[in-house]
Amino acid sequence: MSIAVTRPRILVTRAIFPEVAERLSEHFDVESNAADDDWSRDELLRRLQDKDGALTFGLERIDADLLARCPRLKICANMTVGYNNFDLDAMRTAGVLGTNAPDVLTETTADFGFALLMATARRVTESEHFLRAGKWTRWQYEMFSGAEVHGSTLGIIGMGRIGQAIARRAAFGFGMQVVYHNRNRLDAALEAECRATYVSKQELLKTADHVMLVVPYSKESHHTIGVAELALMKPTATLINIARGGIVDDVALAAALRDQRIAAAGLDVFEGEPKVHPDLLACSNVVLTPHIASATVGTRRAMAMLAVDNLIGYLVHGKPVTPLNAAGLVARTAV
Ligand code: DGY
Repeated sequence: MSIAVTRPRILVTRAIFPEVAERLSEHFDVESNAADDDWSRDELLRRLQDKDGALTFGLERIDADLLARCPRLKICANMTVGYNNFDLDAMRTAGVLGTNAPDVLTETTADFGFALLMATARRVTESEHFLRAGKWTRWQYEMFSGAEVHGSTLGIIGMGRIGQAIARRAAFGFGMQVVYHNRNRLDAALEAECRATYVSKQELLKTADHVMLVVPYSKESHHTIGVAELALMKPTATLINIARGGIVDDVALAAALRDQRIAAAGLDVFEGEPKVHPDLLACSNVVLTPHIASATVGTRRAMAMLAVDNLIGYLVHGKPVTPLNAAGLVARTAV
């Protein structure tokens, strides 16, 4: 007589690496969005209703309403480090664990912060567009002169792991002075290791030649940079956002760029992405990329594998790797 063992059911809400899907199916019954369709909220709810876990991509709003309608759900594992798609309080109340994917993307994302800084300060994409448009007919001494990066002052807002990795690149690779602002000041040893000096947000905005945003999104960090903050920045300064859309007031930024109240911006994230505000698209002094700061094959695979580790860790062994709301969580039992 064979005993049927029910395996936990997992929903993968977007397309993913085949080896990641394969590893999941060694442990779970998996339903995947292999076609990478944009599911509506209703479609997501319908597919999630009979699932024990979900591999999510930082895009799906997991809130009280969804949790009430998905009674089997026990874990949502983001493959992203950001988790502003989770209502963690509602998840804790419902007994549903949320996990994210920290660390594995730190260095890659810091690399990209620098790529965006360099491209913005040195006007790389603007000059390439000029060349491709056939406008380069002769060399001129001031053509596409940009801002100095080496030896300048970098202001980092948000000094978590990625902020620290950026600080190290800036201080040791580019001989920059690094000032930072963070909710909590780093301890002295870490400040020394990053060669970074803690300052107020106002002082940072007034003194930095380049401002880099690496702060997580929350109600408190919404519009960290708006009209008032842009007004404090140097007219020669650049602003780089690799954090989240909504950290910057995009309309205020577009106006500041258009009126050349700051020199340039490099943006990987946007309010309401994947839509980009038309006023930003109209500015030539902004470098725009489609939320790709962590996008190398190795890193994206590692992020997805960490989400899988969390699903296996929790649903198979009862021990997630990078839980967000485990404290006080009374886990849902099988339905
Ligand atoms: C993250 O991991 O949060 C990145 O922004 C990719 O979404």
